[in-house]
Amino acid sequence: MCGIIGYNGFRDADIVILNGLKKLEYRGYDSAGIAIIDKKQQVYKEIGEIKNLEEKLPKIKGTIGIGHTRWATTGGVTKNNAHPHLSTSGKIAIVHNGIIENYVKLRENLEKKGFKFVSQTDSEIIANLIEDNYKGNLKDAVFSAIKKLEGYYAIVVTCEDEPDKIIGARLQSPLVIGVGDNENFLASDIPAFLKYTNRVIYLNEAEICVLTKKDVKVYNKDEKVVDKKENVIDWNIQDAEKSGFPHFMLKEIYDQPDTVNQVLRGRISEIHRNINFNENVENLLNSNISSIQIVACGTSYYAGLIGKYIIEKFTDTPVFVEFASEYRYFGLKHESSLVIAITQSGETLDTLAALREAKNSGCKTLVITNVVGSTATRISDAYILMQSGPEIGVAATKTFTSQIIVLLLIALKLGMIKNKISAVQLYEYIRYLREIPRTVRDVLNKNNEILDIAKQLKNAESVFFIGRGVNYPLSLEGALKLKEISYIHAEGFAAGELKHGPFALLTKSTPVVVIATKDATYDKILANIGEVKARGSQVIAIAEIDDTEIEKHADFVLRVPGGSGVLPSIPIIVVLQLLAYHVADLRKCSIDKPRNLAKSVTVE
Ligand code: F6R
Repeated sequence: MCGIIGYNGFRDADIVILNGLKKLEYRGYDSAGIAIIDKKQQVYKEIGEIKNLEEKLPKIKGTIGIGHTRWATTGGVTKNNAHPHLSTSGKIAIVHNGIIENYVKLRENLEKKGFKFVSQTDSEIIANLIEDNYKGNLKDAVFSAIKKLEGYYAIVVTCEDEPDKIIGARLQSPLVIGVGDNENFLASDIPAFLKYTNRVIYLNEAEICVLTKKDVKVYNKDEKVVDKKENVIDWNIQDAEKSGFPHFMLKEIYDQPDTVNQVLRGRISEIHRNINFNENVENLLNSNISSIQIVACGTSYYAGLIGKYIIEKFTDTPVFVEFASEYRYFGLKHESSLVIAITQSGETLDTLAALREAKNSGCKTLVITNVVGSTATRISDAYILMQSGPEIGVAATKTFTSQIIVLLLIALKLGMIKNKISAVQLYEYIRYLREIPRTVRDVLNKNNEILDIAKQLKNAESVFFIGRGVNYPLSLEGALKLKEISYIHAEGFAAGELKHGPFALLTKSTPVVVIATKDATYDKILANIGEVKARGSQVIAIAEIDDTEIEKHADFVLRVPGGSGVLPSIPIIVVLQLLAYHVADLRKCSIDKPRNLAKSVTVE
């Protein structure tokens, strides 16, 4: 995820663009840049937060320009990789948000034609591709260029030879037009220009727009002009940063259909029936691995526990999951084992220490993280990026689902390498993966139902979450989400363990959330529900849509789309996240910044 902006009007473009970038900083902040046309393209870029750019930026004349704040995916965090990117002649400038999957091939072709590249990004090819197609009309060149792109993008383009216009195009990445008087704007998100105008036009998939100071024209993919409706936004700036959601956490829960697509992008291929990672990761997975040790903290640790169930199922390779804070001092370190560190931030001190210990002991190390350039990516032999964009809410949500999907992809890849799963089975799983965004949307549509259940929980002093198999770590995560943002005491248990102690705590006023999917232990979990009910506790079941039995046992039932084994896990997580969110909201808690907690824990 990155933030992009374009301005064409009468104000100083540098000021408008810097203001806009600050409002988009939540979308990425590892580098930022600006390109303004003052006869020629004037480009300035800096690594780090937007204030670094602001401090070093000289006054630039000019009332038309583009800007970018980056969350790196392809190519590390360097000044050359920062946007805007210029074409070889220096006349065309672009900013891009998205991923171009066929950029290597396109770059090779352009290099053969003499185009020069200075970055490692996929984005730079767009500038040269537009130049390659430029015959005196920027709009036509953009149309020709984007036909050659595979992947997804929002781009904003300017050209020295046509200094009266900016062009925007989008496919599966956000781009909104802000309509002013004698000025027009383009941005990834409305807050970027809300200070200047609240009139917006939404671009649909594959549309292109041409903005002069006075005029906005939108074209569909067949290059025909389309009539667009202007919408008036009545959000204040703070609401708008959260896209109208009251909290970042809720926005991030609702981001998940997109973030699931992003973590899969470029990694699964139905045609070749394969899972693809970068070369370093593939080399690691193809090496001789006797066992896997997963190290992580908090929610990332629970993702690791889910990973254990998945990887063992598909590969028969033993997987051990340890808290990073324990592993670093007490964990066994075997040279033949692969140590996978899971860390959203890539900066959690305990996880970094565990990673260093593993590395120093000769283990192979792989990191799953959301932050390119983070310390974890620099310590490990290889890393896999979640590509989920910055997560602002302290409680991890969208990055947890992305972690699980990465672990599922690792399991499938290893399963293929070890001949434990066939191409036909892989194809079935790939089809399931493609369906996940839809199943997540189905759960999001049940928001009101989940809110009703949250009302049952809001005054509880203690809540239990129970499940078996992969539903056990899901229970742990459900309990963690509830306790950290609502401050209600909550515990997750393996359902079979209740009778070995926790039952002593169970009273009539302890609601029990039971995750009951139709796996091999379904009858056992029904028996556990019976045990809980016998003690007078209220049971809230999370069950599959086609489960006709569960209503006879539970007091309340929340339904999720079904499937075998680990497959319903992602929609179940979304139910648990929404449940915790609503309970915390009903209790008027500080949801995005819970007391005593920090997003990135860089102390021991
Ligand atoms: C809980 C949460 C934390 C983090 C933990 C590890 O919602 O966010 O438990 O999961 O602090 O953080 P990372 O993944 O950044 O290493």
